Amino acid sequence: MNYHLVVFEKAFGLSQQLSDSDCPEFVFTGRSNVGKSSLLNKIFNRRSLARVSSMPGKTATINFYRAGEVRFVDLPGYGFAKVAKGERRRWDELIGGYFGQSRDIRIVFLLVDMRHPPSSDDLTMADYLIDTETPFVVLLTKADKLNKTQRTARLAAFAQEFSCGEEITMIPCSSETGEGVDAVREIIED
Ligand code: GTP
Ligand code: MG
Repeated sequence: MNYHLVVFEKAFGLSQQLSDSDCPEFVFTGRSNVGKSSLLNKIFNRRSLARVSSMPGKTATINFYRAGEVRFVDLPGYGFAKVAKGERRRWDELIGGYFGQSRDIRIVFLLVDMRHPPSSDDLTMADYLIDTETPFVVLLTKADKLNKTQRTARLAAFAQEFSCGEEITMIPCSSETGEGVDAVREIIED
């Protein structure tokens, strides 16, 4: 795939507005601030195609990126405690609405901050993907912030913390060092 050809396609604030699923989709989901937009930029090899912010809640719409015959989907981050209830409901509607449609989802990348145990929202998302038999892998983000001992400990912990954790593919990633990016690209190519 030629990632240099990736272009921003469209942003959606309501799930009813989503355009049809007319091509294979690769989905990036996870908590707010976990590093979805940063990792997408790294995969695309573009500095700021997806907007990144240290303030959680940066991506408040579903953003479609188009690369030839396929699409990348940047979902708004969930579980950000400080947003108003109405805004939160809108995010839940967006994420639930996206997955509720019959779409050509090839794989979901569930991003989880490698430093911390998965949140209850992360576990709910993983269980949903397992229940609906949607293929997914867990990308453990911000791996650059852990030393070797911490990494080994967290990897072992994640295998226990997720249900069926032993069977889930988990890839340490970093948008700082580029770790894991090739592995993600390989999964996409497959
Ligand atoms: P929302 O759009 O709010 O859902 O957030 P997001 O998941 O898209 O996160 P984003 O990519 O905007 O990154 C959030 C913050 O984490 C930014 O300050 C990034 O610079 C930082 N960050 C993202 N990935 C990494 C990483 O791999 N390593 C380090 N050290 N920081 C990272
Ligand atoms: Mg984002």
